[in-house]
Amino acid sequence: MANHISIRHKINSFDKKIKVSADKSISIRSVLLASQAVGTSKISNLLESEDVLNSLKVIKKLGVDYTKRKNTYYIKGFGLNSFKIKKKTILNAGNSGTLARLILGLLVKSKSQVKLIGDKSLSKRDFSRVIKPLKLFGANINSKKNRLPVEILGTEFLRPIYYEEKIGSAQIKTACCFAALNAPGTTNILARKSRDHTELLFKYLKIPIKVKSNKQFDSIKVKGLQQYKAFDYKIPGDISSSAFFIALTLLAKNSEITILNVNVNKTRIGFIKILKMMKSKIKFKNIRFYKGEKIADIFVKSSNKLKSINCPVKMNSRSIDEFLIIFLICSVANGISKFRKIDELRSKETDRLKFASNFLKKIGIKTKVNKNAFKIYGNPNIKLNNTYEIKNFDKDHRACMMSIIAALTLGGKWIIHDTDSIKTSFPNFLKILKNLGAKIN
Ligand code: S3P
Repeated sequence: MANHISIRHKINSFDKKIKVSADKSISIRSVLLASQAVGTSKISNLLESEDVLNSLKVIKKLGVDYTKRKNTYYIKGFGLNSFKIKKKTILNAGNSGTLARLILGLLVKSKSQVKLIGDKSLSKRDFSRVIKPLKLFGANINSKKNRLPVEILGTEFLRPIYYEEKIGSAQIKTACCFAALNAPGTTNILARKSRDHTELLFKYLKIPIKVKSNKQFDSIKVKGLQQYKAFDYKIPGDISSSAFFIALTLLAKNSEITILNVNVNKTRIGFIKILKMMKSKIKFKNIRFYKGEKIADIFVKSSNKLKSINCPVKMNSRSIDEFLIIFLICSVANGISKFRKIDELRSKETDRLKFASNFLKKIGIKTKVNKNAFKIYGNPNIKLNNTYEIKNFDKDHRACMMSIIAALTLGGKWIIHDTDSIKTSFPNFLKILKNLGAKIN
């Protein structure tokens, strides 16, 4: 398959119901937690993207078997720390920061050394954020400059820790919760608010966890050394994948979409809150709950009267994966949009602040960027006629998908490279677009 696409036409108006792929965060967590449960867990509608397939490969290398029948994965766990680790085991997390950081949390008691590697983009990303707390548990960890490859050798003499997680990173919080499973006593994490799928899964699995919240932080206490039973889970749709179709509908002419069965956990819907503040027409319908997670169908209508936003900082972690698409929407909104304290975007699959400012400049939108803030001077009358080539984005799946949404809604001719990257999180993205009528070559 060619690794680039060309788009020469805006999408025509559409009115459809769609389903997006399953939630990536919950897919990875459920695979890793199933690997530590006692018995066979059944996970259906698992996201079959590269990040999740790499999670399955990683647990298999650690001696956990699984099979797939119809739409269900059967994962055979033997309890906490039951990995069978061969000498010189190398685990490849591919492009997935979540898999890489979370699996380290499960290896703090490993009896043999494990080497963790990843692709070029993941090898540029910071691991000090998890190495620091995991060393406090007692694990032995080596790395050069806190980047991959990271080598980890566990210890029998783990201790519970008290840790302040100040970034608002669910990956760090979860790595600590996973390590706490194997530590005696109670681990206490004071975590700046971030997505809470791990806490909800722990509660559902009856792993002893207590969460107390104030405005900015959650105090999380996990009691270790408690086995838990295998479980059944049906993964709901991913709000971060839905975000591209919400943006497509908002920016297309006279269109409507309903996205069925999406996880709308309140720690994940900063994007929707931001869009509502910008006066877009979005509704949750058919709201229900599944194992602690809130699920809904999302209804969206096109809008040609979007307002700019002064984005509240508390939205940052709740919409961390959606900023590229938010920036695109701001570029056609009326007025100047402002974002603060968003330097975490520089630590994603690519430096997303740099990518966004280059991208918007290319399409004639004025921006001001510094280390951790971004201003976008929106232009509701934008009309593109030139040819735009998008490449060199470190194969960041979200940069690629955002570019495709821009191409389908703003006009002009586009060549977008490294479209293979989309398989990281959303393998049927192009297929759904084509079903809505997008012309993509
Ligand atoms: C994720 C947490 C976020 C997010 C990533 C998935 C998770 O990363 O960007 O795509 O599943 O825990 P950080 O924890 O680094 O913010």
